[in-house]
Formats: sequence, C-alpha cells, structure tokens
Amino acid sequence: MKRIIIIGATSGIGLEVAKLFHQQGWHVGLAGRRADRLEALRATDPERFQTQPIDITSADAPAHLSHLIEKLGGMDLFLLSSGIGKQNPTLDPAIELATIETNAMGFTRMVLAAYHYFEKQGGGHIAVISSIAGTQGLGAAPSYSATKRYQNIYVDALAQLTRMNHKTIHFTDIRPGFVQTDLLKDDRYPILMQPERVAQAIVKALLRKKRRIVIDWRYRILVFFWRMIPGWLWERLRIKS
Ligand SMILES: NC(=O)c1ccc[n+]([C@@H]2O[C@H](COP(=O)([O-])OP(=O)(O)OC[C@H]3O[C@@H](n4cnc5c(N)ncnc54)[C@H](OP(=O)(O)O)[C@@H]3O)[C@@H](O)[C@H]2O)c1
Repeated sequence: MKRIIIIGATSGIGLEVAKLFHQQGWHVGLAGRRADRLEALRATDPERFQTQPIDITSADAPAHLSHLIEKLGGMDLFLLSSGIGKQNPTLDPAIELATIETNAMGFTRMVLAAYHYFEKQGGGHIAVISSIAGTQGLGAAPSYSATKRYQNIYVDALAQLTRMNHKTIHFTDIRPGFVQTDLLKDDRYPILMQPERVAQAIVKALLRKKRRIVIDWRYRILVFFWRMIPGWLWERLRIKS
C-alpha cells in the first residue's frame, strides 16, 4: 500500500495529480482550504481518499497534517502544490505580502513538517511544485518570482542537509511553465499547458524519484536560454503579458 498526501489538492495541478495517483491504486490524502471540494472528492472513494482542511498560512497547519497522516495510516510521498500568484506591476503591498505568506512562510512550514515526519520514519519523499518563474526576477510579478526562487533554493538546501546527515529523504522540485488553472485566470499568458497533461508528467517524475523537472520540453528550451541572459540585459527587457 502506497500513500501520498497532497496539499493544494482542491483544484488545478494538485487535483489532477491526486486523481492519477488514485487511479494507480494509491491511498491519497487531500488537503486545502476549501472543505466542500475535499469532501466531494472523498465521497467518490471514502476508502482510499482521506481529507483534511488545511490552511498552510496558519500556525496549526502541521498539527492538521499529522492528523491527516494518521487518517491515511502513514505517508510515503508528500506533495506540496499549494500556492498563490498574481501579476502585480503596481506593487500592491497586500498582494506582495500575501504571496510571501503562502509561498514562502506556508511553504517552509509544511515542508519542514513533512521533513521531520520522514526523519522520524527513517525515509520518505518530499515533492514541491515551484515554477520556472524563479529563473530570473519577473518585473510583472516580483513576489511570485522571488518566492518561487526561494522554493528552489530551499529544496536544494534540504537535499544537501539530508545527505550531510545520512538520511534517506528524496526530493523532487517540479517546475512547470504556464498551466491553464485558476491561478492564471486574471491574467493572459502564452504557451498554456493543460493541467491533466502536466499532472501526467509529474506522476512519471515522482515515480522515478527525479530530483528536479521542468515541464514541458518547450519550457526546458526556454529556461535553458533564459538562464544565459546576463543580469544587465535581463533588466532592460520589456516582459509583458
Ligand atoms: N498555473 C501555472 O501556470 C503554474 C505554473 C508553475 C507553477 N505553478 C504552481 O503550481 C501550484 C498549483 O497551482 P495551480 O496552477 O494548480 O493553481 P490553483 O488551481 O489555484 O491551485 C492552487 C492550490 O493551492 C491551494 N492553496 C492556496 N492557498 C492555500 C493555503 N493558504 N493553504 C492551503 N492550500 C492553499 C488551493 O486550495 P484552497 O484554495 O482550497 O486552499 C489550490 O488547491 C502553485 O504552487 C503554483 O504556483 C502554477
């Protein structure tokens, strides 16, 4: 019996990944703030879906995660899909700070809770959905791109620490390009991917315990060249949606 917990499973990429793991016979723990959506999914297979409302910006979120792990009878794979993001070229402080609270503080809170669980258990697999947005700072979405870079670096740091401490915790950093989900509903983006296809690539990478993955091949090429743009030139580019 294999058990995965997905935080941020009420919509978008997390929801599609949850459906695929369920199809493959896994026991799936689902979390997010929208309890009605969690319950609707649980009702389709109460034996293999367990749920727990969790707000990752709340200090009691790790306690709720522990409760969900208990309901599921354990956890082998932890996937953090929760995230918020918006273009904010006018620099509304409320948007900038809310993004940090979810994508940096909430992210750290939940990744650490999973890390400590796996440390005690003697092993496990932590996966996060970051983004290609952390490749270089995006003027249209400063907080989003900065927090996504934070996520990349944080996972790198934990992966090194794990090896230094001779632990067997695996890490996967998933970096999708633009995906047609609620996250992007207010803004316009090019080269949109469908969440179902992205979820397939994610499941494949997780089963192979890939360390990091950019989805899809078009974005792998884009990121390859994007990384090579020197800072002085990047600052002068007009990147608009
Ligand atoms: N869409 C893209 O183009 C794209 C590209 C690269 C990376 N990503 C990343 O992929 C992840 C999933 O996003 P998505 O595109 O699937 O968008 P989405 O449909 O809006 O899903 C976001 C998920 O995050 C959850 N969430 C948000 N705030 C939360 C909080 N405080 N506590 C717990 N859960 C919270 C939401 O659930 P509740 O509202 O029910 O809490 C929802 O399940 C995000 O980390 C996003 O940054 C998206």
